[in-house]
Amino acid sequence: MTHAALTGWGKCLPPAVLTNADLGTFLETSDEWIVSRTGMKERRISHVSLGELAWVASARALACAGLEAAAVDLVIVGSTIGDEMAPNVASGLQLRLGAVNAAAMDLNTACTSFLYGVSTATALIRTGVVRTALVVGGEVPTPFLDWEDRNTAILFGDGCGAVVLQASDREEGLLSEKLGCYADARGALDIRGVGGRFANRGIPYGHTRWIFEGSEIFKRAVVGMAQAGQEALAKRGLAIGDVDLVIPHQANLRIIDAVGRRIGADPAKVFVNVHRYGNMSAATVPVALVEALEEGRVKPGALLLLPAFGAGLTWCAHLVRWGSRVTPLATSPVELPPCDRTGLELVNELRARRAGHAAHARASIEAARAMFEA
Ligand code: UT7
Repeated sequence: MTHAALTGWGKCLPPAVLTNADLGTFLETSDEWIVSRTGMKERRISHVSLGELAWVASARALACAGLEAAAVDLVIVGSTIGDEMAPNVASGLQLRLGAVNAAAMDLNTACTSFLYGVSTATALIRTGVVRTALVVGGEVPTPFLDWEDRNTAILFGDGCGAVVLQASDREEGLLSEKLGCYADARGALDIRGVGGRFANRGIPYGHTRWIFEGSEIFKRAVVGMAQAGQEALAKRGLAIGDVDLVIPHQANLRIIDAVGRRIGADPAKVFVNVHRYGNMSAATVPVALVEALEEGRVKPGALLLLPAFGAGLTWCAHLVRWGSRVTPLATSPVELPPCDRTGLELVNELRARRAGHAAHARASIEAARAMFEA
C-alpha cells in the first residue's frame, strides 16, 4: 500500500504584533479578561496578502523536503477567506513557486481546512493520482474583522503553515482520521458580509458582522474534537496513552484544556502556542506542527493526534505517524517584504478604511432616498 509521508514543513508569520494592551486602546477590554478567557497574549497582523504568506511558508516547506517546485503534482490551499475566488489562491501559489506540473485547488472548511486538505492529498497519493502534494493552511482574517466588536476582534490573527506529502512505502503520515460537521449549528459562527448572498443585498464586500455564539461553539468544539480524536484512535486500535503529542487547533486555551481532559491526555503532551498568535483559523495546526518540530517536541517515529473544529461547524481529528527525519534538509532564502508599521498602526488603518466604507454606504442610501423623494 502507498502511504503519504510528511517530508517537509514550513511556516510564515507576519512580523507586526498586536498585543492585548493594543486592543485595549480602542476596545473596552483588558489583558486580564483576554488571557483568562482565551489564553491569548498577542497575535500577528499581516501587511501582505494570504498569497504572499503562503508562498513563503511553501518555499520553506519545499526546501525542508529537499524538493524543487516542479516536483509537486498538487497544491491545496486551505483557508476560509482567500485573496480571490476566481482565479483561486492555489493557482497564484503554483505560479509564484513555479510548480508548473501541479494541479491547484482551494479548500474551505474554515479552521479545519488544513486538515481536510491533508486528508484530500493523502487520498490522492494513496490512489496513485499524484505522488507529491503541497498542503497549505493559511488565513488573513484581520482585514475582515469587525474591529469595533470586542466579542470577536480579540480572537483572531494572521499566519500560514505548509507541509509536503510524498508517496512512500513506509507506513508514515496519516494513519486514520475522522471528519464530521454539525451543520445544525452552522449559524453559530456566521461571517456576514463576505460572499454572494450579501452582494445581492448591496452590502459592501468585506463590511462584515460576525455572528458568534461563543459558548455554543465552545461546547460543540470540545465534544466534536474529543469524539473525533477517540474515533481516529479506535480505528487503529490505539489509545490516548500511545500518543506522543496532541497538536490541537488553537482557538482558545480553555477549549484545548477541556479537549485534553475529555480524551484523557497528559497536559505535558498537548502542544499550545495560542498565547503567541491567537486563532489563525486554518493556519493554527500547521504552524503549531512546525513549532513543535522546531522545539524538538516531535521525535522520530512519534504518534501525533491533531484535532480541530471550525465554522460549519466542521470538526475532525487526524492520527499521524511521523517519519525518521525531524530536521529540514535545507532552508529557503524566500522572505516577506519588510513591514514598517506596528500591529496597532495596521489595525487602525483597517478601522479607518472600514469607517470610510460605512460613511460611503450611508451616503449612498441617503442619496437613493433623496432621489425617490424628489
Ligand atoms: O476556531 C473557531 C472560532 N473560535 C471560536 O469560536 C471560539 C469559541 N468560543 C470562545 O472561545 C469563548 O466562548 C469566548 C472567548 C468567545 C468567550 O468566552 P466565554 O467564557 O464564553 O465568555 P462569555 O460569553 O461567558 O462572556 C461574555 C461576557 C459578556 O458580558 P456580560 O454580557 O456577561 O456582561 C461580554 O460582553 O464577557 C464580555 N466580553 C468581554 N469583556 C471584555 C466579551 N468580550 C469581551 C472582551 N473584553 N474582549
